Amino acid sequence: MATAKTIYRCQQCGHESLKWLGKCPQCGTWGSLTEEVSQTEAKPTAFSRSSLKQGDSSPVRLSSVDVTESERIPTGITELDRVLGGGFVPASVVLLAGEPGVGKSTLVLQSLEAIGSAEKPVLYVSGEESMRQVKLRADRLSIEGDGIVTAMETDAETIIRTASTGEFPLLAVDSVQTAADSLLDSLPGSISQVRQVANRLLTYAKENNVCVLLVGHVTKEGAVAGPRVLEHIVDAVLLFEGDGSYPYRVLRAIKNRFGSTNEVGIFEMKASGLAEVANPSALFLAERPDDAAGSAVVVTVEGTRPLLVEVQALATHSGLSSPRRTAIGVDRQRISMLAAILEKKAGIETGDHDLYVNIAGGFKISEPACDLGVCAALASSYIDRPFPRDLVAIGEIGLTGEVRSVPRLADRLREARRLGFSQALIPSASLELLKQELGDDLPLAVRPVPNVAKMMDEIF
Ligand code: TYD
Ligand code: MG
Repeated sequence: MATAKTIYRCQQCGHESLKWLGKCPQCGTWGSLTEEVSQTEAKPTAFSRSSLKQGDSSPVRLSSVDVTESERIPTGITELDRVLGGGFVPASVVLLAGEPGVGKSTLVLQSLEAIGSAEKPVLYVSGEESMRQVKLRADRLSIEGDGIVTAMETDAETIIRTASTGEFPLLAVDSVQTAADSLLDSLPGSISQVRQVANRLLTYAKENNVCVLLVGHVTKEGAVAGPRVLEHIVDAVLLFEGDGSYPYRVLRAIKNRFGSTNEVGIFEMKASGLAEVANPSALFLAERPDDAAGSAVVVTVEGTRPLLVEVQALATHSGLSSPRRTAIGVDRQRISMLAAILEKKAGIETGDHDLYVNIAGGFKISEPACDLGVCAALASSYIDRPFPRDLVAIGEIGLTGEVRSVPRLADRLREARRLGFSQALIPSASLELLKQELGDDLPLAVRPVPNVAKMMDEIF
């Protein structure tokens, strides 16, 4: 057996020390030393070896590399399979990250139920909840659990030993922050522990052709000993997002060695668990008010899917010397910029107004293609006249007030028509290309606008 000792290594320059130091004596960085296990024998171990099996390292001609894909394990949950790129891949590690309470354990349990069967069960190791709690959740989700073997365990060694007792095609560890390797003195959840546990499970996954699903918590601020330190170790990182006040959840791949990172899956948290949302646009537009000023619909593209969302804006006189700019679901800087463009180019003088912009339903938009709609909503609230109800706005806005073209316009228009819209504001610059692509038979009536001033003339 290899003899292991713990050392402290500077994460900046790699300097090794036998005791912890606040400041690295080599490069002078503060707080950069973290605990690691150093293996003194040459025997390959989880920590000292790379994640590839020994046999994989002999060089071969690229042209003769076998690319027949190992059998994927589809979950049957369409939204999850889409994000994974078709299902879990054996001999890989997938990290499911999200804030506490977003529904990670629920999603894991539901996908385990879909994968496991009585003959070929999957293993669910919880370090956070007792078996009773896991069972109670399963009951709430109407999960029989015949195909799920569950254990309560936090020691990495024991988890791997437990997993080795059966031929589980998939091992889920909930969560990586509660698991620990006893070789390290540091507490579970510390950066060194989280990395050590992930490395050991990675080796286990590769050597036994098992898929390991790690659950990891992220905090609102992002990274505190969080899954981000694992991003380069694991094969895929799925981020599960959602606002506690709203029922819907978005699953996106931020890293995927076996598929696209573009895809998103959309779920709704119901009393009976997570339900797939096949028609998200309808969900986001469900409560749109009739003819109220300050509301406009934009078409944003998430992954490969166009989504319609409602932008709401409120512009009110401000008593403050520096008026408020509040943005929920959109970038605040972008709102300030768009307000400045509207002021300079379209005479919408919001300098003495408080501006509030909100994306209905708690959705987040990040695409510049939504600029035109945000401007329209702001202008609509400012002049207190409603934006036409059957109109969507698509276009990015540049600093000179010009409306710039956006990718995938045809898809956006089709989705708008599918949801019953009959006209769209589009960038003038895109009209030619759109006609080349679709001919004269456009999905809905288009109203090309070259700049924000023309947009105002066109609709208000
Ligand atoms: P959970 O999966 O425990 O979140 P995480 O593992 O990410 O911390 O679920 C969190 C919330 O979801 C919890 O507050 C209750 C709610 N929930 C439902 O609304 N319906 C359900 O069927 C379940 C199981 C949970
Ligand atoms: Mg949980």
